[in-house]
Amino acid sequence: MGRIAYVNGAYRRHAEAAVHIEDRGFQFADAVYEVWALVDGGLTDWDGHIARLKRSLGELEIAEPMSEAALSVVLKETVRRNGVRDGLVYLQVSRGQAARDHAFPDPAPSPTVVVTVKPIDPKVMHAKSEAGGAVISLPDQRWGRCDIKTVGLLPNAMAKTAARAQGAIEAWLVDADGCVTEGSSTNAWIVDAAGVLRTRDIGANILRGVTRATLLEIAKGLQIPVVEGPFTLEEAKAAKEAFFTAASAFVTPVTSIDGQKIGDGRPGPVALRLRSLYIGGARNSARV
Ligand code: PDD
Repeated sequence: MGRIAYVNGAYRRHAEAAVHIEDRGFQFADAVYEVWALVDGGLTDWDGHIARLKRSLGELEIAEPMSEAALSVVLKETVRRNGVRDGLVYLQVSRGQAARDHAFPDPAPSPTVVVTVKPIDPKVMHAKSEAGGAVISLPDQRWGRCDIKTVGLLPNAMAKTAARAQGAIEAWLVDADGCVTEGSSTNAWIVDAAGVLRTRDIGANILRGVTRATLLEIAKGLQIPVVEGPFTLEEAKAAKEAFFTAASAFVTPVTSIDGQKIGDGRPGPVALRLRSLYIGGARNSARV
């Protein structure tokens, strides 16, 4: 992580930055978060991440800790103090600190706000992510409100760990109907035999990915046929192409699922084209 973190109104050395032991984020995962890609010094997909942050906070009745303008200043100042141009910017907002009791405290404490920056070498990251990698499938064991971007990520962390243990870069989660919901930290996409781009609809129990929304617009602009709806794991394995999206992955090709090659086992042309268009757009529209 970068050298400096923002915590509740102050910029601290990362090693010394801390929140209280009775913070509800720590005790109950009573907190939400957002992740922005930092591209050439700018934060990508600003409006989408801000809208989702407000929605996550609203669904959990956590007060917005500051105005959008103030948050923009804090995020940019944290980036500036870290001297980072490419990487990821993390924001966590918890309900705040209160004596331990399951029910939301009344009166509400002030939310805890933490901002950190992770520097990433863009050349290394792009080379790795463009090459794509293997995915494994696992049962989706998460709760029923995956549309809220909470820090309650234990099933996601377990799935990613299982993927890494098998030499895979992501785990795709499969619901009780045998359909892929999403990845442990990414949205899942396939290009089917008819050339139709398919990704799970946001009515399902998935995170409404900001990268996903931007990519849907790009695909529609290219007149690629798109269906937002369920696809089975078997359909994914038989697809021409597969890939996943996230602020931390842009568009990353999937070369195999559970050891079964996707297409010829190399990153597909649709994924690579969408990837390059997404990154080009992110560079142009990033908020500096
Ligand atoms: N993860 N689905 C899940 C479960 C996610 O955690 C994420 C993002 C996405 C993609 O969302 P977006 O395109 O808005 O980044 C989908 C972030 C990057 C993380 O947890 O680090």
